[in-house]
Amino acid sequence: MNQLALQSLAQLIYDYCGLHFMQNLAMLERKLTPRLAELGHTIGEYRRRLETAPEEWPIVIELLTINETYFYREEHQLEQFQHTVLPELMQRVRERPIRVWSAACSTGEEPYTLGMLAVQKGIFLPESIRIVASDINERVLQIGRSGVYGKGSLSFRRMPKSLLEQYMEDTEWGFQIKDSVKKLVSFEKINLLELESRKELEGFDVIFCRNVLIYFDVPTIQKVVQSLYRLLSPGGYLFLGHADSIIGMGIPLQTINAPNTFYYKKGFENENIRSIGS
Ligand SMILES: C[S@@+](CC[C@H](N)C(=O)[O-])C[C@H]1O[C@@H](n2cnc3c(N)ncnc32)[C@H](O)[C@@H]1O
Repeated sequence: MNQLALQSLAQLIYDYCGLHFMQNLAMLERKLTPRLAELGHTIGEYRRRLETAPEEWPIVIELLTINETYFYREEHQLEQFQHTVLPELMQRVRERPIRVWSAACSTGEEPYTLGMLAVQKGIFLPESIRIVASDINERVLQIGRSGVYGKGSLSFRRMPKSLLEQYMEDTEWGFQIKDSVKKLVSFEKINLLELESRKELEGFDVIFCRNVLIYFDVPTIQKVVQSLYRLLSPGGYLFLGHADSIIGMGIPLQTINAPNTFYYKKGFENENIRSIGS
């Protein structure tokens, strides 16, 4: 293997999306081999292609990202969202829709689950709640937008039957998200490493960013979580995956401990919340 060319390619990918293969160049090469063979490119030629042909990025992102997800993932967090966070926001946020963001949503099971829980709670209208669903991978966003999931799919492995029956239509193509939930969710491509330039993303009441930080190194996690903190409204809530640690990163979020789970809250302007682990 051409070590130097691979290192340089790994650096380019890291700078673009945070996925880091520096310590695992063999895996990077393995994942890209079919594409290199298809194009007849060496590693060095492929690196130059990425620099000069932006349309290659969605292809490399598709090859490198892991899009595992399913409905009703990590039920204890979802119970907190439905029974603690939403009621508090319904009381407090009255002049505008509650704004929820499922960042790195993959094929959409997470944002649709949040939509179903909101509808169950009596929040029916886009004027009352808006759920932004985003990912860097364009193919998974297309599946999310379609809202159709294969009947035998592992996406349903933890989904309560009552949610399936209430909010999904049994069609010949698969189970389809009903309009009552679909109209609350909008999909868009967002790279978590490019949040500085996205002013319109300010003011979320809840952000879910689960099971993606595990693919990043510490400086990237710090950069992403600092951006998420900035994009949260005062009093907003952040849900991360259980394996994600932000201890000692100097981010002034309050940890909320709940049965079998935890999540974070941003203080109001007059509150003095110490950084986690400081
Ligand atoms: C394992 S899935 C997690 C899906 C969902 N949040 C869940 O917990 O079930 C991780 C997702 O992160 C996305 N991802 C990876 N790097 C990203 C980046 N820099 N910006 C946005 N999304 C990214 C991948 O495309 C993938 O769909």
